[in-house]
Amino acid sequence: SVSSAFDFAPNLFPLSSTAQGYTALGAPSNAGLDPSNALNGGSLEKNKSLTYLNGLSLVVGLIIGSGIFSSPSQVNRNAGSPGASLVVWVVAGILAWTGAASYAELGGAIPLNGGAQVYLSKIFGEWAGFLFTWCAVVVLKPGSAAIIAIIFGEYLVRACIGADAVDASTWLNKAVAMGGLILVTLLNCVSTKVGTRSADIFMFMKFLALIGVTVTGIVVAVTGFSYKGPASDDWKTKGWWVGTNTDVSNWAVALYAGLWAFDGWDNVNYVTAEFKNPTKDLPRVIHTSLPLVIVSYILANISYFLVLPADVIESSNTVAVAFGSQVFGPIGSLILALFVSGSCFGALNATTFTSGRLVYAAGREGYLPALFGTIGLGKSHRAVRLHANSKSRIPRKLVDWFADADAGFFFTPISAMALNALLTSIYIVIGSFDTLVTFYGVAGYSFYFLAVLGLIILRVKEPELERPYKTWITTPIIFCCVSLFLLSRAVFAEPVQTLLVVAFMAAGLIIWFAWVGRRRNKEKARFRHTEQDEEKAGWRFWRRWKS
Ligand code: ARG
Repeated sequence: SVSSAFDFAPNLFPLSSTAQGYTALGAPSNAGLDPSNALNGGSLEKNKSLTYLNGLSLVVGLIIGSGIFSSPSQVNRNAGSPGASLVVWVVAGILAWTGAASYAELGGAIPLNGGAQVYLSKIFGEWAGFLFTWCAVVVLKPGSAAIIAIIFGEYLVRACIGADAVDASTWLNKAVAMGGLILVTLLNCVSTKVGTRSADIFMFMKFLALIGVTVTGIVVAVTGFSYKGPASDDWKTKGWWVGTNTDVSNWAVALYAGLWAFDGWDNVNYVTAEFKNPTKDLPRVIHTSLPLVIVSYILANISYFLVLPADVIESSNTVAVAFGSQVFGPIGSLILALFVSGSCFGALNATTFTSGRLVYAAGREGYLPALFGTIGLGKSHRAVRLHANSKSRIPRKLVDWFADADAGFFFTPISAMALNALLTSIYIVIGSFDTLVTFYGVAGYSFYFLAVLGLIILRVKEPELERPYKTWITTPIIFCCVSLFLLSRAVFAEPVQTLLVVAFMAAGLIIWFAWVGRRRNKEKARFRHTEQDEEKAGWRFWRRWKS
């Protein structure tokens, strides 16, 4: 029955989080951190303001980040030939698309905020939702932020100091990555507005960078013009298929690198409940954004191949810089490096923003120590707020531009973002782009696999459940088969990373069964509230917050 989808609704943490991102895109500002949301778990979901276009820019803006400018080397190295690499890119894109289509069905059937956390709780029990949250907090979010930060560092060092510096010192790169992380975290601590305003600025940089690469590649292919003499003719002389790798495990690693570039397609599911018309818009968003991204990635890759020799593509994480310097010389590489590091900075900003909210929600839910579920600077926050509202020497306009309405400065999940920054810096120190991408892929695809498997289970277990959007059943099946293949190959291709992921998951399960889950069951037995109770509590807090 339909209602069964909502049985567990009171357990959900409201992922007010990602909704915050929308202030930049036109939703009412400050909605996400309304304290009443955290308490009644619902009012945000009544705030239906997102449109098709908001969804589209959210998905595309999150997917295009560091990957298309850095993954190609790993894809090529492992696939072996340009043709094989393009196959990997197509497969990765289609896999992301089938996954996203499956998530669209889940989002329609279970139209609540929270993404995989919600679906897994509903289908397998709350322990699965907790496990996802746990892994998201300790592995997925900081791991992905670290990858983006590392690429940010490499591109920026390249832009400022030159190519030799990058190869000479990984520590310089890591220091710059760390600096970027700290800067982004501080920006996001200041206010929600600062976070979302920076997101707006950097959003268009990534579009420019990607369109630039594609257009340049085509122009070079047509005119033959390039600064450093004729562009590579590897693609003509060597052919597209020479060197294709035959080892399946290598293909799996190549796929992980491609999937990284397409990752982020599940993000719209975190805010499903806030769509004006989720049943129509969710599938529409998915079915336009993914083809768009797939086509632009394929074009960008073809551009790389047309301009650069294969060994250059394979040898560096900063393909886009090599591309720029080949076509336009030093200026080209400088401009591309700046644009790409801007794009990464924007992606880092977006993921810091959502991670903060995710950790915050986990703290509120009792999944993490309560400290992480707090907002602002404790008692001293009052002073900051007063300052924001009083006449000060700083021009009023400027304050308004950066301060959150009503909340002033620092009314953000500061301790949550600090935890996220701490974990991220650990990954930056111990990891490299290549190792982290596989690590992230294994962890991420375990949950995507579980959620999509859940879709199939749900079709069998609850055929009556209302599904406003239904994919062909082949879609989730294809997704499950390919991701199962990927996960099983990881064991052979990258045993260390796989083992680490398994260890994190085991730790999560132990924490749940020994501690968090037990406490929650006790709580649940104590307060068996009805939907009306929830509603009343919500209104009470809402009034108090308003006054
Ligand atoms: N696809 C993005 C990139 O190429 C990475 C997305 C990371 N995932 C996420 N959920 N933020 O950089």
